[in-house]
Amino acid sequence: MPFYRTLGKIPPKRHTVLPVEGRESFRGEGLAYEHVVTTDGFMRAFSILYHLKPPTRVCGARLHRRVELKPAGPDLPLRHHHLRSASLPRAGDPYEGRVPIFFNDDLVCYRARPERAAGDFAFYRNGGADEVIFVNAGAGTLESTFGRQRYRGGDYIVIPRTTTYRLVPDDVSLEDYLILETFSPVRIPPHYRNRDGQMTMEAPYCERDIHGPSELIGDDTEGEHDILVKDRDRMTVVTMANHPFDVIGWDGLIYPFTFNVDDFEPITGTTHMPPPVHQTFDCRGYVICTFAPRHLDHHPDAVKVPYVHDNTEADEVLFYVRGEFGSRKGIEPCSFTLHPQGIPHGPHPGTILASMDAARTEELAVMFDTEKPLHIAEGAIGMDDPGYLTSWL
Ligand SMILES: [Fe+2]
Repeated sequence: MPFYRTLGKIPPKRHTVLPVEGRESFRGEGLAYEHVVTTDGFMRAFSILYHLKPPTRVCGARLHRRVELKPAGPDLPLRHHHLRSASLPRAGDPYEGRVPIFFNDDLVCYRARPERAAGDFAFYRNGGADEVIFVNAGAGTLESTFGRQRYRGGDYIVIPRTTTYRLVPDDVSLEDYLILETFSPVRIPPHYRNRDGQMTMEAPYCERDIHGPSELIGDDTEGEHDILVKDRDRMTVVTMANHPFDVIGWDGLIYPFTFNVDDFEPITGTTHMPPPVHQTFDCRGYVICTFAPRHLDHHPDAVKVPYVHDNTEADEVLFYVRGEFGSRKGIEPCSFTLHPQGIPHGPHPGTILASMDAARTEELAVMFDTEKPLHIAEGAIGMDDPGYLTSWL
């Protein structure tokens, strides 16, 4: 949940009438229709939107398909993995073209390299999960109930559940995403905020780095509009009687926002700083971290790559975006590494001495660490590099 924001027309007090002027109003009522989006029941962050037509005007719903997640074979031993996803073929659209890579009870991680911008349905909504779309490459406009906003490479686009949206890429042939479907709300880490709710001065980013919708759409078109709605493994086509982007104003703390990795201010030290300094978002059962370009440890005897460690209560996944990753060999852009709990991992041979004279690293990676063990999806195991197991010898 980011920060209070408002766009367009809202009445001076909640739950009071908002007259709609200058147009033939719906049903002759002359009012906008209030729509409250809440989290944690009614106990935590919420937003209030004002529609030209009630957002409850559903003409029909039909099951589209089920998307069953299957884990890779039961004969898979506990071991480290390196999955290469750079050559994943372009397929589908940004919603149905997603390829599951890892999953557990708290998240599903997908890669998506769409070949077309739009799917069979004009709009998409995840009714059961927040979505974090990391834009590995590409740029465009996110259109949603909350309005329009630009996105670009290096953005995390965080889309709260129940937000009807569509991505409008500038050039779909460049679009490349890492997507984290998150079954809990995606929040700013609570320790980055002071007791007054403001971002602390030592946090690696601040309010100015969070970007929300900048322009309302307010489309008053009447007629049937299909929305592909996902809830867990079910895809339903919900047909609305009017355009879903008919909002003329909203306020609150729930809205889609972007945060770019170039705005992450790395925390560095004289010796190695542990992964929590890279934390970017907080979710139930896992964290999302950004390894951004940064100055390396400057103690004269500092070992500048991470020490061997046992991640005793977390499975660690890194998605490598760009740059040389100092502690790893054989890694390329769009590689994933999975270092599961139960066995230690650390720097590859030769990387400790090789890093001693380096003053900076230009590596950029997205990490997620999960409390519950991750399954590798059945369709992703074909990307596995079998030589990674013994690459520390
Ligand atoms: Fe690690």
